[in-house]
Amino acid sequence: MMPRVLEPELMDDPEQALAYAKADFEEENQGFVDLFRRSYPDITEGHVLDLGCGPADIPIRLARALPGCRVTGVDGSQAMIRLAQDAVKAAGLSDRITLRCERFQSLTPQEPADAGVSNSLLHHVPNPLQFWYHLKNLVKPGSFVLVMDLLRPESPEAAQVIVDRYAKDEPAILRRDFYNSLLAAFTEDEVASQLAELNLSRLLIDVPDDRHWVVGGRIY
Ligand SMILES: C[S@@+](CC[C@H](N)C(=O)[O-])C[C@H]1O[C@@H](n2cnc3c(N)ncnc32)[C@H](O)[C@@H]1O
Repeated sequence: MMPRVLEPELMDDPEQALAYAKADFEEENQGFVDLFRRSYPDITEGHVLDLGCGPADIPIRLARALPGCRVTGVDGSQAMIRLAQDAVKAAGLSDRITLRCERFQSLTPQEPADAGVSNSLLHHVPNPLQFWYHLKNLVKPGSFVLVMDLLRPESPEAAQVIVDRYAKDEPAILRRDFYNSLLAAFTEDEVASQLAELNLSRLLIDVPDDRHWVVGGRIY
């Protein structure tokens, strides 16, 4: 198994952020929101926190799917948060979606959320234990969380096969980022060890396809 190759933590290059915002993540992002609703049908109100929200596609889909909920999206990249602000405004959801330009490591749990989600953030983070630690502290004890990210393939060649399979016609900048993200991602075993180290093993890990893992359950 190839070792993890870190990529920059924040996506703060405006060109990179714009390419990401323009890309079509409908299937993945709507799938994530649908999974959240299927997994936690009783969550119909309250405050959902999205760590590493990027251009706010998931906060917008969540807010539409859960009209009784407020969503806070957090991202450390100013370029992403600017795009997120435009998208939230265009969606007419500024009253229910709050955006914060901050690294999650510096957030203080003044108002712990009722649920936490995060998609495609963990592979950016140098120390993944920080992510699980802060996620736990930023939501109320016993809250439901849903976290999804990429799986690291066995080799650079296997990563290239995945990029060619799923992003063949995408712009070069997106293909480059996808490849680098696969190399920076974690394996299922590594995620399981992270959860064990923080005493979060009651969360369940699933591998729904050839390039993603999903962790869900109540976090205490
Ligand atoms: C691949 S994007 C995913 C965006 C979004 N969750 C989605 O699925 O469409 C990862 C985002 O995480 C942000 N990010 C990386 N490290 C972060 C940190 N420590 N705190 C907050 N945001 C971070 C990046 O700036 C980037 O916008």
